[in-house]
Amino acid sequence: MTSGVEPNLASRWFPVCRSEEAVVRHVVHTALLDRELAIWRSDDGTVNAWENRCPHRGVRLTVGTNLGNALKCRYHGWTFESGSGQCAERPAHPGEKPPALVRARTFSCVEVLGYVWTRLPGDGDDGHGDDDRGPAIGPPRPALTLRSIHVRAPAAMVVESLARDALNTPEASSVDAADPYMVHAVDPRGGRIWYFLQPVAEAETVIHAALADAPSPADRLAVLRRENHRLRAVRNAIEALTSS
Ligand code: FES
Repeated sequence: MTSGVEPNLASRWFPVCRSEEAVVRHVVHTALLDRELAIWRSDDGTVNAWENRCPHRGVRLTVGTNLGNALKCRYHGWTFESGSGQCAERPAHPGEKPPALVRARTFSCVEVLGYVWTRLPGDGDDGHGDDDRGPAIGPPRPALTLRSIHVRAPAAMVVESLARDALNTPEASSVDAADPYMVHAVDPRGGRIWYFLQPVAEAETVIHAALADAPSPADRLAVLRRENHRLRAVRNAIEALTSS
C-alpha cells in the first residue's frame, strides 16, 4: 500500500495548528498534504495527531468526543487511547478486550515554538521514525505567534508572495526562502518574522507566522493588528491572482 505522500515530503515536519488551539476536551480538524487530521490534547497535556478516520467504519474522529484520556468515535462509541491510539472499549462488546491491531492511525507529533507539528510517513514507514525532535528552526527563535491564515493557493506561490512582500519596502529587507515551506524575513515594518507553511492540499496553504522578537506589552496589540492586517493583504493579493 502506498502512503500517497511524495518522497521528498514524507517524514518532513509541518505545523498543523497553533498549540493554543489544541485545548483540552477539544478536537482540531485540519489537513496536511491532502490527508485529514484530528489533533487533540489529552488532560495530561499530550498532543495527538491522528488520521481523521475511525478504524472501524471510517467516520471522522473530529466529530467524536475528547474524553480527556481517549477519543470516542461518534458513530458506535469506540474509544481510542491518547498516545498509542489503541482501541480501549467497544460498547457493543462489553467486557471484551479489543484486539491489539484495532487502533487509530497515529503520527509523530511535537510542540515547538507555539505550534503543533507532525510528519506524515512515506512508503514503508510507520509515521514515527527515529527523529522525534521536531523541526530545526532558528536562530532567531520565534517569540510570538500570529493568527494563522488560510490561502487558496499552492505553497510555492505563497512563499513567493511572502518573499516579495517582505522585500517590497523602501528600506532594505532580507528574506531567506531557501526552504520552500519556511521563510525568515527581516522587515523594517515588522521586525524579524518567521513564516511556516502548512500545505493543506495542492492549492491550499495555511500561513503560520511568528515574530522573532516579542513586542512590549504596551505595543503588543498594535503589532498584532498590523501584522495580521499585512498577512490578510498578502492573502488577498494571492487569491486575486488565483481567481482571475
Ligand atoms: S465508525 Fe467509529 S466506532 Fe464505528
